Amino acid sequence: MTAEAVTLHGWAAGEAGRPASPDWTIPQDWASYTPEEHATWAKLYRRQAALLPGRACAAFLEGLRRLPIEPDRIPDFERLSEVLMRHTGWQVVAVPGLVPEEVFFDHLAHRRFPAGRFIRRADQLDYLQEPDVFHDVFGHVPMLMHPVMADFIQAYGHGGLRAQRLGALDMLARVYWYTVEFGLVREGGALRILGAGIVSSAAESVFCLESPSPNRVGFCLERVMRTRYRIDDFQQTYFVFERLEDLLRLAEIDFAPLYERVAALPALAPDALLPDDDVVTRGDGRWHRGRAAPAA
Ligand SMILES: [Fe+2]
Repeated sequence: MTAEAVTLHGWAAGEAGRPASPDWTIPQDWASYTPEEHATWAKLYRRQAALLPGRACAAFLEGLRRLPIEPDRIPDFERLSEVLMRHTGWQVVAVPGLVPEEVFFDHLAHRRFPAGRFIRRADQLDYLQEPDVFHDVFGHVPMLMHPVMADFIQAYGHGGLRAQRLGALDMLARVYWYTVEFGLVREGGALRILGAGIVSSAAESVFCLESPSPNRVGFCLERVMRTRYRIDDFQQTYFVFERLEDLLRLAEIDFAPLYERVAALPALAPDALLPDDDVVTRGDGRWHRGRAAPAA
């Protein structure tokens, strides 16, 4: 397991947290959340609800509106799953936190989104070592109401199982990272947030769109497969889709020949720009300058 795969993807768990169930699911046991845990959700929700109109893509805002995701309480996965199932055939299942990669991919391939049951500590709203219920549910689940993301993430699950066999997980992980977690999309001429890692973070929701620091580059699959990323800080480069539907084209591509080609090329630093990049904005790098840079 490389450091790069130990991420917010919801995989790479150790044996220590292994539950009895072979697919690592646990009961959400919604009734046992404490008032303090619901209050932490409410704080996070309110902060993002104020920031996201005009920043998050329309599909996210629409999904959030249509799901039983409420401001003042941690969502009940059963109620979420009922609505999701009717729209796109997805369910949300509870897991203790990170799960092994093959378990994660298998859930996605079967339209089950594994979501952390726990919520971060109230005094650590911006600190996240493992994906919690706010990141997983607030960040990811609204996009699963959109048929394009619903199909893409299922295809990603199948692709993950295949990439494991081909020894290409690092390259595939970069695709997930720069799309599902940290992607941007153009809407009506403006940039909007697509990725769950961004919409669940107050600071990055602003940084990714408004800071002069990061690069913003048109999405190019092979380019992204080569690009290392930050797991410890804001991204140094965000990749931009011209439209959400372009994600589905990715799901139709046979990645195997690309893995071979990309594996023969050097990996790129998270802030690299190439001469043939479709540069939307060239970052001045001010945020990361002088900060330690342990890129994955
Ligand atoms: Fe995530």
